[in-house]
Order: sequence, then structure tokens, then C-alpha cells
Amino acid sequence: MQTAVSVTPRWDVSAGICGYFLPDMLKRNPTTIRMNNANSRLFFMGAFYHIRNHILQGRASAEVRLYLLKYEKHSASRKTKKNKETAMKKSFGPKTLVYPAPVWVVGTYDAGGRPNIMTIAWGGICCSQPPCVAVSLRKATYSFGNIVGRKAFTINVPSEEQVKVTDYAGMVSGKNLDKFAATGLTPVKAEFVDAPYVKEFPMVLECRLLQTIEIGLHTQFIGEVIDVKADETVLNEKGLPDIEKIRPIIFSPEIRAYHTTGKSIGLAFSIGKELA
Ligand SMILES: Cc1cc2nc3c(=O)[nH]c(=O)nc-3n(C[C@H](O)[C@H](O)[C@H](O)COP(=O)(O)O)c2cc1C
Repeated sequence: MQTAVSVTPRWDVSAGICGYFLPDMLKRNPTTIRMNNANSRLFFMGAFYHIRNHILQGRASAEVRLYLLKYEKHSASRKTKKNKETAMKKSFGPKTLVYPAPVWVVGTYDAGGRPNIMTIAWGGICCSQPPCVAVSLRKATYSFGNIVGRKAFTINVPSEEQVKVTDYAGMVSGKNLDKFAATGLTPVKAEFVDAPYVKEFPMVLECRLLQTIEIGLHTQFIGEVIDVKADETVLNEKGLPDIEKIRPIIFSPEIRAYHTTGKSIGLAFSIGKELA
């Protein structure tokens, strides 16, 4: 069998180890070993365990023992350094794990004109002009067919105290159940689109279906916001909806918990100027 060795040692100690054992290793395992900086570490590891075996079997010289000691010290300090570099973050792989996810209730009419609501967390603003929001629904939901059929939906923003009805709307299907009747919520026909909104929720967006994007398990519906409505009681002194009065709910994926929003920590496009 062919034996070709090209070694680019990275460390003096390891080079010494390889130099000492290489002939012996090749004799025992005559194979093609090609080394460069990328795989030299792997090879040195092999050499290291080879030496350990020798020592365990009492066959190593004092010189090799010294190499081993130096190598262990060197490797321990590298490990500590590597841990410090990587232990800061744990990897979770591909997941829908990001914050914050909104908790919205999508309002729709079915083919017979019966209003339905469904809770979603996979959604967000997706365009400023025209103003658009995107919601992602599974085909299995009743609301899916309703949006396709009516080409419209509403986004209802529940407040903290409405968390129970919101959760309920996300656990049962409206296929054979009137969720408005079951929750005691009141459907109101939207002013500009063919969908109902929830009277009791403080804020609502009336959306016309603009685009449908097949992604995978979920289909994304992009809705053009035709109107935003909010209760007078949740407006600030400038007459705009106030997040601290609406107290919307935030969803935490994976843990599947509801959270509240906190206090304002600064004005956007402004607080950063302190660094300028
Ligand atoms: C907090 C929460 C978030 C949810 N987010 C989504 C979502 O983004 N997309 C989705 O298809 N289903 C989501 N669901 C599940 C639906 O709300 C649920 O399947 C509902 O029963 C569908 O109602 P429908 O069949 O009446 O349309 C969520 C449920 C909860 C509780």
C-alpha cells in the first residue's frame, strides 16, 4: 500500500510527538496520510492517544513522558480558551424562536357569512407603503378557507385581560363552533372589508387580501391595511393609539407563554443620536 506523508506541524510539542512516533505509526498502519493545517490537529490527536497507549503499557521513554506533559498542558489551555469563545451562546438549530411574536386574533366570515376568530402569532408588519401586515395560517384552519373565499380579514389586538378568550380562540376550530357565541365576544361587520372585527378588543386593522405566499406548512396572507380603528380609551394625548393603554400580549415561542409589554425605553430614530 502507498505511504505518502506531508506534515505541516502547528505546534512544536505535537511535531515532536509526531516525529517520534510517525515511523512506528506508519509501520503499524501503512496508509496514505496527507496533512496540512486543516487536518493536522486531527492527526495530532491520533498521535496523542497512540502515546498514551505506550505510556499505559510502560513502553514510553522519559522524553516521551515530557512531550506528553507539555502536550496536555498546551491542550488544556486551548480548551479553556475555546470554551470561553464558544460557551457564550448555545445553539438551538433551525427553530421559529424569536422575540417578540405578536398575539393577534384574525377575524373572518365563512362562506355562509358566519363570523369566526382565530389566534395567530406568526405575523407582523411587512410593508409601509401600501401599509401591509402578514399573517401565516395552516391550511387545516377554518380561517384559511375563509380568507381565500372572502379575500379579507381583520387583525384584532387583544389586551392583557383578554388573554383567556384569546387563548381559547387559538385552541378550538370554528368549523363546527361559533367562537363568538362561546366566548361572549361581539362580531361587528368591518367598515371597508368583508370580514368581522371583535368589538371588545381595543384595536383592529381592516385588511384586504393583497397576496398569498405558499411557504410550507404555513401560507402567508399579506393584507393591505385599509383602516385602523382603536377605542378612544386607548389613545394618548396626541390622539394616537398608546401601547401602554392597549397593553397588547406578546407570545414567547417554544415556551408557549404569554407576556406583557413593558415601559418605553426611548424614542426610535432619536435615542441612538446620543452616540453620534
Ligand atoms: C398563541 C397562539 C398562536 C397561534 N398562532 C398560529 C399561527 O400563527 N398560525 C396558525 O395557523 N395557527 C396558529 N395558532 C393555532 C390556531 O389559532 C388554531 O389552530 C385555531 O383553532 C384555528 O382556528 P379556526 O380553525 O377556527 O380557524 C395559534 C394558537 C395560539 C394559542
